[in-house]
Amino acid sequence: MATSQTLRSTVKLASGDELPVLGFGVWDSPSNLTTKSCLEALKVGYRHIDTAQLYGNEAEVGEAVKQSGLKREDVFITSKIYTPAADGPSTYQKCLDSVKKIVGETGYLDLLLIHNANVGAEPRKKMWLEMEKLHEEGKLKSIGVSNYGVAHLKDLKSYGTKVWPPAVNQLELHPWLQQREVIDYCNKHGIAIEAYCPLVRNQKSDNPTLNAIAKKHDKTTAQVLIRYSVQKGWVPLPKSDNPGRIAQNADVFDFELSKDDMEKLDAQPQEPALVLAVDNESEE
Ligand SMILES: NC(=O)c1ccc[n+]([C@@H]2O[C@H](COP(=O)([O-])OP(=O)(O)OC[C@H]3O[C@@H](n4cnc5c(N)ncnc54)[C@H](OP(=O)(O)O)[C@@H]3O)[C@@H](O)[C@H]2O)c1
Repeated sequence: MATSQTLRSTVKLASGDELPVLGFGVWDSPSNLTTKSCLEALKVGYRHIDTAQLYGNEAEVGEAVKQSGLKREDVFITSKIYTPAADGPSTYQKCLDSVKKIVGETGYLDLLLIHNANVGAEPRKKMWLEMEKLHEEGKLKSIGVSNYGVAHLKDLKSYGTKVWPPAVNQLELHPWLQQREVIDYCNKHGIAIEAYCPLVRNQKSDNPTLNAIAKKHDKTTAQVLIRYSVQKGWVPLPKSDNPGRIAQNADVFDFELSKDDMEKLDAQPQEPALVLAVDNESEE
């Protein structure tokens, strides 16, 4: 059964740019494998790759896009900056380093995110203000955040920022961590939501509810989790360095989870984050 979306479908960001509905994550992809895995993903049809300065494989992502023969504008590339440098100009350069590493001196990135709110209010502001400059100059088509709770988003808004809302908030999201408060806030303010760890790092592959739903649709548990994310309106970023799984994770547009399936997954007990908890209540 075909669904209304395909691997090439996009969501419109507040910046006006189009974000492909499925991304390819490369955290923990060893740099000697990243180019090969990204090339495999691009061959299968992914058009969206998610890296970060912290992952140590930005150049390898750029190399894959170059080797793929695809036009630059046909691939959506995201990176992330974790901490600012000593001052504004060096923080600007630190952001620009990602652009240079991935697409070269004259290129642009589709999206740069502040990797984590937990670095503190001043560092966040410092990075955001420099990212705004690069956005104005066209080096970053969109700018956004990751691991931001409601308080962090409100703090960002209080700068009187030129760019509001942030295009994206990237969060750990799956049935066992639905982060409903920050999701509601993002939906209300037109902030697109990206789901990291959408496969719960394969830790729920024995879960009976998930297995029953997978069996019913003749799909894998990973495919059900990606489909869950897509149907929630999130943009999942599954990671794999295995060619079979890279293809499998993209093959999620020929079935639909029913209302009952979604409700069963929504009803899963909420558990601590795998990566880190986002504090939605307080500032730090
Ligand atoms: N913003 C942030 O703070 C943040 C934090 C974490 C992650 N992220 C982003 O989100 C992406 C995804 O998160 P993640 O990598 O932590 O977790 P994930 O995508 O939920 O899980 C990846 C793990 O699942 C395995 N896997 C992949 N496909 C599978 C399948 N079909 N069946 C069984 N196992 C499968 C992978 O192993 P193989 O490689 O061997 O297939 C890998 O060990 C990251 O790569 C990164 O881009 C962002």
